[in-house]
Amino acid sequence: MNPFTFYNPVTLHFGTDAIEKLPQELAKYGDKVLVVYGGGSIKSNGVYDDVLAILKQANKQVFELAGVEPNPRVETARLGAEICKSEGIDLVIAVGGGSVIDCSKLIVAAAKYDGDAWDFVIKKAFAKEALPLGVVLTLAATGSEMNAGSVITNMETEEKFGWGSPAVFPKFSILNPKYTVTVPRNHTVYGIVDMMSHIFEQYFHNATNTPVTDGMCEGVLRAIMEAAPKLVEDLENIALRETILLAGTVGLNTFLSMGSRGDWASHDIEHAVSAVYDIPHAGGLAIIQPHWMRHAVTENPERFAGLAVRVFDVEADGKSVEQIAYEGIDRLSAFWTSLGAPSRLADYDIDQTHFDKIIEHTMCNGPFGNFKKLQAEDVRTILENAL
Ligand code: NZQ
Ligand code: ZN
Repeated sequence: MNPFTFYNPVTLHFGTDAIEKLPQELAKYGDKVLVVYGGGSIKSNGVYDDVLAILKQANKQVFELAGVEPNPRVETARLGAEICKSEGIDLVIAVGGGSVIDCSKLIVAAAKYDGDAWDFVIKKAFAKEALPLGVVLTLAATGSEMNAGSVITNMETEEKFGWGSPAVFPKFSILNPKYTVTVPRNHTVYGIVDMMSHIFEQYFHNATNTPVTDGMCEGVLRAIMEAAPKLVEDLENIALRETILLAGTVGLNTFLSMGSRGDWASHDIEHAVSAVYDIPHAGGLAIIQPHWMRHAVTENPERFAGLAVRVFDVEADGKSVEQIAYEGIDRLSAFWTSLGAPSRLADYDIDQTHFDKIIEHTMCNGPFGNFKKLQAEDVRTILENAL
């Protein structure tokens, strides 16, 4: 294990009555609350009504920022920060999925900063302080509800980058599996792919002696793979939604990377692809990550083989380590395809036209990836194999 310091201050309220904890959280902050949400799903499924009723009962003065885009834009965060500054907002509540939460993280940081919000994303500035942020989660996927990261897109420059700061950890997150039952099948699948992908990113590291986190990763993956095929056929099943909801949070609240540094190259490549093509984040991951795995397998075939046996039930007898490793990757691809996830860039009509631009963006800070360092030619190979 690598030496590490762990910090995660998020209060998590989980369960079908979790929203009842909102009043006690609201009592800790001032009167002016900015509610941030997306394209309107919270209005059609009743979550908006639940939140607004509690805010009203608590005598809060409510401001709203609607229309946060999937793959949230820096312009929207600028707008939110402006409202916070001009109205003197005391608390921001993000009601939605990862996009709404990520946009709100940039809002709360930019609200306490004199420069442009984009400065944080490109690391020109570091967010030392932020307004308090609360979350009511409606989609299981990113883990943003319990981490300090955020991913923001700038359509002008066709850039999409992750950034983060301990200042933007949510103060509290409310997770009610009932609020996720209206997530349509395609976004349910994307969420499942995303959380699995986060676990793979953390599982592939170069630290040694990590049996605790290895076992945690493998256990969460097995729980997801048990629940997912049933859930996509039974979207309103609360018990299955509950499993997937917790798996998404545990998948990226950094518990799984205690003592190790995960790879994250598949995410970096996907962010560069979706900055140009604006495709769903996990649609891109389902395509790219198995090709990253095939490209990286020779770094440590034993690690891939262990995963293949313990998570993908590959029969090891009479096979070489490499055969077992590749069979595991094939089973992962088959699993994602069976859920309905895309498997080729062509599924999004993506060809080689913008590969140079995508590669340039991934290489902006030099070679990347912590399990296997990727050079520009590695990224090109992965993209070409994914066509
Ligand atoms: O906008 P609305 O109308 O709310 O609809 C959303 C959106 O269209 C809909 N939705 C959400 N909850 C729903 C619902 N529809 C019906 N019922 C509900 N209960 O789902 C669509 C997708 O929502 P979005 O928030 O975009 O999805 P997700 O949670 O997957 O977030 C994706 C974003 O998170 C970033 C991605 O890059 C992408 O921009 N990521 C953030 C991370 C983080 N902060 O830690 C890590 C991830 O790797 C990821 O990169
Ligand atoms: Zn992700």
